[in-house]
Order: sequence, then C-alpha cells, then structure tokens
Amino acid sequence: MRDWSGTRLCRLADLDDGRPRGFELGEGTDRFDLFVLRRGEALLAYRNECPHAGSPLDLMPDQFLSADGRHLQCHTHGALFRIDDGMCVAGPCLGRRLTPVALGVVDGELLIG
Ligand code: FES
Repeated sequence: MRDWSGTRLCRLADLDDGRPRGFELGEGTDRFDLFVLRRGEALLAYRNECPHAGSPLDLMPDQFLSADGRHLQCHTHGALFRIDDGMCVAGPCLGRRLTPVALGVVDGELLIG
C-alpha cells in the first residue's frame, strides 16, 4: 500500500469540534479511508475499517458516533469503541481496536503523519 504520510486532508479550521469527518484517499489497492475527530485542541484519527468484518464504520457519510455521542460506533453491526483509544467495548469485536492514524498540523493544514 502507498505511504500517505504528508498528504493534506483539510484546513484545521474546517474541522468542527466534536464532529467526526471521513476522508477517502486513493483507489484500488492504494485505497485508504480514515476519519478524524477534533476535540478542543486534541486530534484523533482512525482508519475507517471495523476490526470485526472490515466494513467502514459509517453507513451514512461522517456517521461515526453513537447516538449518545459517548463512543465511536460501527453502524454495520453496532460495535462501540472508546473515542480516546479506539478499543471496542461492546459488540462482535470486543477487545479489539480501531487502527490509529498519526496526524500533523503544518501552517493550519491537517496532514497525515
Ligand atoms: S463490521 Fe463493524 S461491527 Fe461488524
């Protein structure tokens, strides 16, 4: 798979606080889907791939949170994940984690890596 380090995602100012946003990069074997969540000054990102069956978590674009907003949720079979570390705490992949994605910010631009 291609190394996506350094790829620009968006301006940091374009991320709404507390509202995850998905990104789809590349095609075919280079496809790389991720989502980013800004919580105040903190930034989190995970691959958009559920450890249960490999499906994207969002059935509707950017639908990554549970109804109460306390967890990330896979909307295929309902697995719940802690926001801070991606650990599955309920559902068919209990005890497995979402894959974190490293981020950086340069001149107000959000980058992978
Ligand atoms: S694919 Fe996510 S819970 Fe089954």
